Parts: sequence; C-alpha cells; structure tokens
Amino acid sequence: MKKLFVKTYGCQMNAYDSARMADLLAPLGYVQADGPDGADMVILNTCHIREKAAEKVYSEIGRLRVLKAQKAEGGGRMLLAVAGCVAQAEGEEIVARAPAVDLVVGPQSYHRLPEMIARFSREGGHTLAADFPALEKFDALLETKETGISAFLTVQEGCDKFCTFCVVPYTRGPEHSRAPQAVLDEARHLVDLGARELVLLGQNVNAYNGGGWSLAKLCEALAKIDGLQRIRYTTSHPNDMSDDLITAHRDNDKLMPYLHLPVQSGSDATLEAMNRKHRAADYLRIVDRLRAARPDIALTSDFIVGFPGERDADFEATLQLVRDVGFATAFSFKYSKRPGTPAAALRSQVAEDVKSARLEALQALLGRQQHDFDDGQIGRTLPVLFEKPGRKTGQLVGRTPYLQPVHVEAPSAMIGQLASVRVERRTANSLHGSLV
Ligand code: SAH
Ligand code: SF4
Ligand code: F3S
Repeated sequence: MKKLFVKTYGCQMNAYDSARMADLLAPLGYVQADGPDGADMVILNTCHIREKAAEKVYSEIGRLRVLKAQKAEGGGRMLLAVAGCVAQAEGEEIVARAPAVDLVVGPQSYHRLPEMIARFSREGGHTLAADFPALEKFDALLETKETGISAFLTVQEGCDKFCTFCVVPYTRGPEHSRAPQAVLDEARHLVDLGARELVLLGQNVNAYNGGGWSLAKLCEALAKIDGLQRIRYTTSHPNDMSDDLITAHRDNDKLMPYLHLPVQSGSDATLEAMNRKHRAADYLRIVDRLRAARPDIALTSDFIVGFPGERDADFEATLQLVRDVGFATAFSFKYSKRPGTPAAALRSQVAEDVKSARLEALQALLGRQQHDFDDGQIGRTLPVLFEKPGRKTGQLVGRTPYLQPVHVEAPSAMIGQLASVRVERRTANSLHGSLV
C-alpha cells in the first residue's frame, strides 16, 4: 500500500479531476492520505487564474522538497507531480525551476499518469505531458469508487470565448462536451454509490452540446434517474443562457433554483474591453426571464474590479447592476495580469490602491445582499438535503435549494435524505433550523 496525497487548488473542476486521479492511481496501490507527511506520491493540482496562485505552488514545492529529502534519507521515495492549469501553462518552466518535481501533467492528460509513473520509475528524469487530447481523457478514466451526497460530474471542458483577462482557454483548451450517454452512465453510477445531488461542471457548462443535446435536455434525462434528488450546474456564460435552459428552471423539478452566472462588470465599455460579447442590459434581461420562469431563483456571480481602463463611472455601473439584480452571494476579484492574455498588455492598468478601494466597496454591497438573502429565509420552511454530520453531536448539515448550509438536529440516518426544515436563525456563514 502506498500513500497518495492530492492537494487541490482552484475551481470545482480541479476537485473533480483530483478525485479522478486518485481513482486512477488506486489500482497501482495508492491509498489517499490527508497530508504529505510520509507520502509516496504528492500531486499538486494547481490553478492559474490569478498571479499569486502560481507563486503559492512554487512555495508549496519548496516545502515538499524537504519532505522528499527526508523520505529519501530513510531509503524511500516520494514522487512529486504538478497537475492542473499551472502545469499546462508553464510546464517547461516548472521543470526548469523546480527540479524536485518529477512529473508535470496538464488537465487533459491525467489518464496518462500510470504510464508516466511507470516510465519515471524505469528511466528517471522529468516527464511532461501537456497536450490537449480531450477526447481520450474521459474514456480512459476509471469509474469512481466513492462519492459524497453531492457529487461533481464534469460534462464539458474548455472554453472558446477568450475573455481578454482569462487564462482558461489556454490551460483547458477548446470547448468539448462529453457524450450524453457517458454522462448518464456516470450519473447512474454515482447515484448507485449514494450521491443524491449532481453538480454538472464545465468552464462553460451551459454551452454543453454533447451528441447535439442541450444542457436542458441533459438535465431532463438526468432527472429521470431514480434516487437522484437535485441537479445543479456551474459555471454558465450569459450568452449561452438559452430559452430551453431558462424554461427547464420552471419545468424540471430536480433542477435547483440557483444559478451562478458571472457578469464580471456592469459597464458596457468594460464588458467590451473584456470581450464578454454581452452588455449589462443583456444580463438584466436574462435575469428577468429567469425570474419570470422561476420567481425564487437565487443568482450568484463573479466580478472583476480594476480591469484595465476601468473608470469610476464604469465601477459605479457595476455597483448599479448589483443593486438592480440583488445577488444571493458572489465572488469578486481584483483584476490580475495573466501573462499571454490580451488585457495584460494594455497600458491603462488601474492602480493597486484604486483596485483595493473598489473591491472593498463592492464586497461591502455584496455582503449586505448576502445577509439580506440569508435573513430572508428565516421563518421559512425549506427542503433541505442532509449531507454530513455537523460539528456538534446529534446535528446534521444540509443545504437549502439555494445552496445555503443549514445546521439541524437530526438523526444520522437522515444523511442523504431530503426533509422540510424550518429556518430559525442565521450565524455568520450558516443557517440553523429544525425538522418540521
Ligand atoms: N468560465 C467562467 C469562469 C472562469 S474563471 C466564466 O466564464 O465566468 C472564474 C472567475 O475568475 C472569473 O469569472 C473571473 O471573475 C475571475 N478571473 C478570471 N481571470 C481573472 C483575472 N485575470 N483577474 C481577476 N479575476 C479573474
Ligand atoms: Fe475565461 Fe471567459 Fe472562458 Fe469564462 S468565458 S473561462 S472567463 S475566457
Ligand atoms: Fe483555475 Fe484552471 Fe479552474 S485556472 S479556476 S483550475 S480551470
């Protein structure tokens, strides 16, 4: 038995990929460990979305080098692999800069890990795999062995949109959808293993077009799986928010009234410079249509402040859009230059203190909206899907349709079940309630 530690950075797709890598290595005798101490293999599954992410990886490699040396002193060996988007974007540089790294593997090449490990064991040196054979990857990955109540399922990968700030089209490659049958098979398998909620993943999940099926059609087929209670999907692009998907939020009972729909900015000038290909008004119209179809739908979003050329008036337009929509929660970031992306070369970069002030103002507004949204649930009775034990004995944690965690006194046999919960109060980050 060998110990494997996978450390995951970045988005949910990386979390999904980490689990698949562990599945893939299990037949080689690798069992997952909680930390790197004494591990026979460590995989850093990296994210390249913001500057500091890559630096964090290099400092993590520095720490692991010490453990690797200790292991070698004891006559053992610790294999160190860097996977994910940093591996894809700067594989060669990692090999040059961090000799402690044995394997570098990009997101579309995970299925090659066993072969790479074997080759490394035979020949030593560094092995790098960072091309985009997207079609092979899913076919070659093994079935999952275990799942939580809520399970990620990648249905689409890659992006052809090329927003001018973003590295994803370069690290994940072109848009590619999995065949519906493959998704349905994996979904049934996950439900057999105990999953009750599926979160369909894709960098542009609503651009899904596997076998000519839309995402709405895929969700309709998934909803027929017995035992599956809830379907969610993330991340969506406004321009792919099709009529049938909006209608599915009305007609598909298992599709949750919750949508992560990044807008990035409320200013048309900034949106244009970002190459988002939609205006603020388009976004508001989509929100109106969603709310007409499903009045209780909760919306969340991503925002970038301080994009090159963003003036006070542009930022004010973002605040106005936030006030107009009212978000349940949202992520907001300072623009960060990514090498190789068009926006990084723009000369109109915004000063750091201006970015910080804007981020603070935006987060204050979004924070108030989140509290209002959460407080709005107090006194309501909501269906809650119980996922795991809470910190206190006798307590379970579940989620509302709007993804809010709720702590409830309930027997552990209710894990995996949906039950009506009356929401009673809110603490900093979660709701508390009791079974009805
Ligand atoms: N595919 C998704 C999001 C991918 S990245 C979409 O189209 O919205 C997740 C989020 O990171 C983005 O929505 C964006 O808000 C943020 N992000 C991406 N690149 C960034 C950069 N260079 N600087 C700051 N934030 C960035
Ligand atoms: Fe990045 Fe834009 Fe593609 Fe989203 S749509 S992954 S932000 S390029
Ligand atoms: Fe990061 Fe790659 Fe995901 S850059 S956000 S891990 S797609």
